[in-house]
Amino acid sequence: MTKPGHIPMLPQADKIGWSASVNGKSVSKSVESNAILLDVLRDYVGTLGVKRGCDMGTCGCCAVLINGEPRLSCLTLAQEVNDTDITTVEGLADGTHLAPIQETFAIYGGSQCGFCTPGFLVVAEALLRSNQNPTKDEIKTAIEGNLCRCTGYQPIVDSILAASEILSSNEGTIDSTQHQSDPHPGFIEEDN
Ligand code: FES
Ligand code: FES
Repeated sequence: MTKPGHIPMLPQADKIGWSASVNGKSVSKSVESNAILLDVLRDYVGTLGVKRGCDMGTCGCCAVLINGEPRLSCLTLAQEVNDTDITTVEGLADGTHLAPIQETFAIYGGSQCGFCTPGFLVVAEALLRSNQNPTKDEIKTAIEGNLCRCTGYQPIVDSILAASEILSSNEGTIDSTQHQSDPHPGFIEEDN
């Protein structure tokens, strides 16, 4: 808050009304006219699954879906996406049921420290909605804007391929006993 007599070094932006459907719920807020979508989602809407990584468009952590299309929220003015349909990672699950892409990330080790995971999940979801049977090359192209320091990327590609198998088989389930979910498997007892 500006104190009486204080001269701000930066001009104060006016407040504007902002509204959108975020994960299926109507949201209306009063935000600064120059507010960045990432800040609005985290600070006003409370969707903390949207991560701030680089804040400059290079890591993909902040990706969300705007009317179904992946966008970097750190490079998007909130007022540009007024009255749109926004999906964050919190909106992927169906109630208590994980989306196939969330399930396979857990099973195939697509998530380790997890910081990059919301961005990957959102981008992968957008890919699978438009193409249920992507090739490995199509997956690599889709996620080329997302950085991960932990996994080496192969478990992420495997997770997306496995989700595409679930979606195309329409079974909605996966045999989790067939794959190692722990990316750092510890000591395994041998049978005597
Ligand atoms: S925080 Fe937006 S791309 Fe890194
Ligand atoms: S899981 Fe750690 S940065 Fe990707």
